[in-house]
Amino acid sequence: MKSLTTKQQLSQYLQAERSTGATIGFVPTMGALHRGHITLIERARQECDIVVCSIFVNPTQFNDPKDLEKYPRPIEADIEKLEQAGCDVLFNPPVNEMYAGNEQWHLEIGELEHLLEGAFRPGHYQGVTQVVFKLFDIVKPDKAFFGQKDYQQFMVVNRMVELLKLPVKLVMCPIERESDGLAMSSRNVHLTPADRGHALVLSRTLQQVKNEFGAADIFTLKEQAVTAINREPGVELDYFEIVDGVTLHVADQNSKSVVALVAAKVGNTRLIDNMILR
Ligand code: PAF
Repeated sequence: MKSLTTKQQLSQYLQAERSTGATIGFVPTMGALHRGHITLIERARQECDIVVCSIFVNPTQFNDPKDLEKYPRPIEADIEKLEQAGCDVLFNPPVNEMYAGNEQWHLEIGELEHLLEGAFRPGHYQGVTQVVFKLFDIVKPDKAFFGQKDYQQFMVVNRMVELLKLPVKLVMCPIERESDGLAMSSRNVHLTPADRGHALVLSRTLQQVKNEFGAADIFTLKEQAVTAINREPGVELDYFEIVDGVTLHVADQNSKSVVALVAAKVGNTRLIDNMILR
């Protein structure tokens, strides 16, 4: 695997590959790779000739400096995992390679920015679109692979792609779960053994809602879910919503796709999870 740290090295390398007709699959990450990320690499491997993974802990998408500081960065272990998964190129730039100075960025993505996660993490999706735009501009991928776990992020990036008419196809890959149901996340390393047990209420509740979807109305399902999560010690619920999979507004009979989304603080760690109901 090639390991590159500058934009110039990466774009020169990819330009040469592209000129031979090779297609480029891109997996943007912030590192601390787990099985969920590896499935994205594997999918890119199946669908594209060259697989590029970026590891960049993007400062502009963190609204809490402490969260940025404590974000795990196990680069040696990440490199090993990427090599095993058959990744061709790692792009691992320093912050000053991605950000020249005091840059201004604002992309009008409408309501999607302020709903759900956006309400709890103001500015987060501006930071995400800012860095993903930069990364797409360097890599110029044919396809980019994102996890369903960050469902709203996928919708936001998709909106950016539509608005700016970027020539990339986005692929959403299913959530990977531990055997007990916990959604894999780089933040899970921060959970204490007790938190780890309490965190299971999130996937368990999503599964219950999925099992009962269609048999009970959305309002009742949400009420039951909120009650179950609030009953769990050590868990502080930010939101549990059952939404239209496209608009992210509360779902109704016309919603072609329906998703249940949850976010909660478990101990000191904020977790998100979701399940597609229809
Ligand atoms: O999902 C992530 O890890 C990040 O938000 C992303 C897409 C790599 C942008 O920094």
